[in-house]
Amino acid sequence: MTAPLRLGIAGLGTVGIGVVKIIRQKAELLRARIGREFVISAVSARNRDTDRGVALAGYEWEDDPVALATRDDVDVYLELIGGTEGAAKASVEAALRAGKDVVTANKAMLAIHGQALAEEAEAAGRAIRYEAAVAGGIPVIKALTEGLAGNEISRVMGVMNGTCNYILTRMEKAGLSYDAAFAEADGLGYLEADPTLDVGGIDAGHKLAILSAIAFGARPDFDGIELEGIERVTIEDIRAAADMGFRIKLLGVAQRTGRGLEQRMQPCLVPANSPLGQLEGGTNMVVIEGDAVEQIVLRGPGAGEGPTASAVMGDVCDLARGLRQPTFGQPADTLQEATRARSELPAPFYLRMALLDKPGALAKIATILGNSGVSIDRMRQYGHDDTTAPVLIVTHRTSRVALDEALTAMAQTDVVAGAPVALRIEHL
Ligand code: HSE
Repeated sequence: MTAPLRLGIAGLGTVGIGVVKIIRQKAELLRARIGREFVISAVSARNRDTDRGVALAGYEWEDDPVALATRDDVDVYLELIGGTEGAAKASVEAALRAGKDVVTANKAMLAIHGQALAEEAEAAGRAIRYEAAVAGGIPVIKALTEGLAGNEISRVMGVMNGTCNYILTRMEKAGLSYDAAFAEADGLGYLEADPTLDVGGIDAGHKLAILSAIAFGARPDFDGIELEGIERVTIEDIRAAADMGFRIKLLGVAQRTGRGLEQRMQPCLVPANSPLGQLEGGTNMVVIEGDAVEQIVLRGPGAGEGPTASAVMGDVCDLARGLRQPTFGQPADTLQEATRARSELPAPFYLRMALLDKPGALAKIATILGNSGVSIDRMRQYGHDDTTAPVLIVTHRTSRVALDEALTAMAQTDVVAGAPVALRIEHL
């Protein structure tokens, strides 16, 4: 049998402990499949004394993840700490320089520093694997880099933040306000330590940046994503969408157009009867379209101990088998700097605004839309309070540029209270 693969695990939270459990509980299965033993040489975390529900006393301990990453008895360094900078990045860089392969679940680090890290890995002749970074237990990185390698990818899209999907689902199913659904998700421990990462669309944006890089041979470009969170979605939006046969999802879309790479992560209306529309709770879904395969839909748990540890172990097993490939599926120096393209493909849009309840207000809005070439498909006014009237408008297909021109003009009138909500309606 080949020599054991020796692991150093930094970060003993949900993911790290899940990995320790799989290695302990499935030793025989792994040996049978891979033909090697897995040995945990040492572990590291911020606090040694935390009760993690698993006996760790048998493993050597390193306070400093960099020291762990560079130990002579570590072949593969597992960075499960998280965070864009700091210990996570320093230890991954140290591991690569010391000739170790790296497995990480760190989407933020890869979305922001992925190009530099990919170059460092290739210079060192090592690999960075990160299946757990995108869509939890769904093997989407493997699907894109390996199974779909013979395809020209035209579009990647998906729901990649389970917390947002949980909040939106609870709003629809239980009639909860955004704040109540957010509080429920918080109570269940779903939210990241900084909840803006979830509800602001940032976590899902990091994941989209990684998928785009692989799908389109582009350098990861998180800053190039049109990003909007779900904080402004109201129960009225959810109900209005449902009335029209749609559901609201935080949807990521990346596609190459004639003008460049379009990447957006925004709340959108999707048909309720589509696979994405039917996705409920904390589940993730990624849809990939390629010229040869046409369309595939991957669905599964986006977070949690088992699913993320499953993804990490898939990477560890590949490394144990000697499978190494460039970080984003092709050599780092061949990844192109993507030209950023704003989403210009026309689509219908859903608008919600509060109009001051005075004569001519609606006429002004209709005129502004008309002047920008935006045609109204449907309109509804409901539930006046003393001063404002909420108005919902669905447009015919229009470009975002034309719509933004209209929204800017609306802001300059004296009839719109606050900023209107504008959500794209995606026909999938
Ligand atoms: N917070 C993420 C989610 C999981 O809710 O999907 C980690 O990326």
